[in-house]
Amino acid sequence: MNENKEVKIFPNAQDLAEAFAFELFQMTRSSKQRLDIALSGGSTPKLLFEVLANQYANKIPWERIHFWWGDERCVSPTHKDSNFGMTQEFLLSKINIDADNIHRVKGELPPEEAAADYILQIQSNLNEREDWPVFDLIILGMGDDGHTASIFPHEMELLTSDKICEVATHPESGQKRVSLTGNVINNANRIYFLISGKSKAKPLSAIMNNLKSANKLPSYHIEPKQGQIIFFLDNPAASEIS
Ligand code: 6PG
Repeated sequence: MNENKEVKIFPNAQDLAEAFAFELFQMTRSSKQRLDIALSGGSTPKLLFEVLANQYANKIPWERIHFWWGDERCVSPTHKDSNFGMTQEFLLSKINIDADNIHRVKGELPPEEAAADYILQIQSNLNEREDWPVFDLIILGMGDDGHTASIFPHEMELLTSDKICEVATHPESGQKRVSLTGNVINNANRIYFLISGKSKAKPLSAIMNNLKSANKLPSYHIEPKQGQIIFFLDNPAASEIS
C-alpha cells in the first residue's frame, strides 16, 4: 500500500463520524475553490451525514460543494436501497444546497444507460489528469468481503477498466449497481476510507499488514496515484491490525 497512507483510529463509529465531519469542515475552510466530493453508501456514512446536518448545516459553504456518488444501486431515488435517497434523507434535505450541485447516478434508468449518463455528467463537470477525471475527495466504505464502492471480489476487472463507470452486480442479491472504476478512484486528490465495526477487522488486517490474501480484496488495490489516502477506523475495525 501507499506510503502516504495515514490511519486514524477512534473509539467508536460516532467519534469517527464526528472527526470525519470536522475534517470535511476544515477542508472547506482551507480552500476557496469548488470541491467535488464523491459519497459512499453504507451505515458509517449515514452517521456522518447526521453529524454534518446537525452540527455543520450553517458552517460549511455548501454552494462550493458538489456531491457525487462512488456507487449507486440501480433502484429509483426513493427506494430504500438508494444511496442518493439515504443522503437526501439524512443530509441534503437538511442543508441549503442548490440542486445543480448534486450529481446523482440515475438508478431508475436501465443500468447501462445510468452508467453512460453518469459518465457524461462526470466528463462535462470535472477536470482531467492523465485522461482521467479528478475528484477532490472520494469517500469510500469497505464491505466485510473487502469490496469498495461497488467493486466486488468477483469483479476485480472493474479496478482496471478503461471506462469511468461500470455496471456491477452484487454477489448475493444480484442487484445491479453503477460504480466508479479503480482508475477513477485512484486518480482522486484525496481518498478517505470510513470503516467501522468488528466484521471489518479481518479484511482490514489483511490489507494493513500486506498479507498475501489481501490481493483478492478490491480495497487493497485502492492507492491514489498522486493523492492522499486516509483510513478513518473505529477500534473494533482496527482490532486485528498488528
Ligand atoms: C454501498 C457502498 C459500499 C459500502 C460498504 C460498507 O453502496 O453499498 O458504497 O461499498 O460502503 O459496503 O458499508 P458499511 O458502512 O455499511 O459497512
